[in-house]
Amino acid sequence: PEQQAAVASVLSSRKDEPGALLPVLHDIQHILGFIPEAAISDIAFAMNRSKAEIHGVISFYHDFRLAPPAKHELRLCRAEACQSMGSDALAAHVHSCTGVDDHGVTADGQLSVRPVYCLGACATAPAMLLDDKLYARVSKEKLDSLLQPVLK
Ligand code: FES
Repeated sequence: PEQQAAVASVLSSRKDEPGALLPVLHDIQHILGFIPEAAISDIAFAMNRSKAEIHGVISFYHDFRLAPPAKHELRLCRAEACQSMGSDALAAHVHSCTGVDDHGVTADGQLSVRPVYCLGACATAPAMLLDDKLYARVSKEKLDSLLQPVLK
């Protein structure tokens, strides 16, 4: 109910502005820390859009979260240099170890996984951030050892 009230107040103050969808999503995430599924229905209804459209926008912009922030955050670089050095395989590995994909949070709330597009470490790709600390030349083994304390 508190969340709903926050969403309703953002919608009533913003929804009629031109190009309001992004500011609405930003405001909601700013207030609640994430964009709850229920808010997506409310936004879709208030702004006369489909839920799929709202989901599309959320997944296109990498800073939106669909779940409360986890204790730890892994951001794997998915841009070109890292991709050519195997970041997709690392992402698949993360998925198989944790069950979560980009924008997901593990069921115990320990880890969220989000993509990032270039960390300025292309020469030492593939790169990632774990809790804002940069790691370079990440192998599956290195990733496993970094994630082990986080996932236990
Ligand atoms: Fe990954 Fe630049 S592409 S750090």
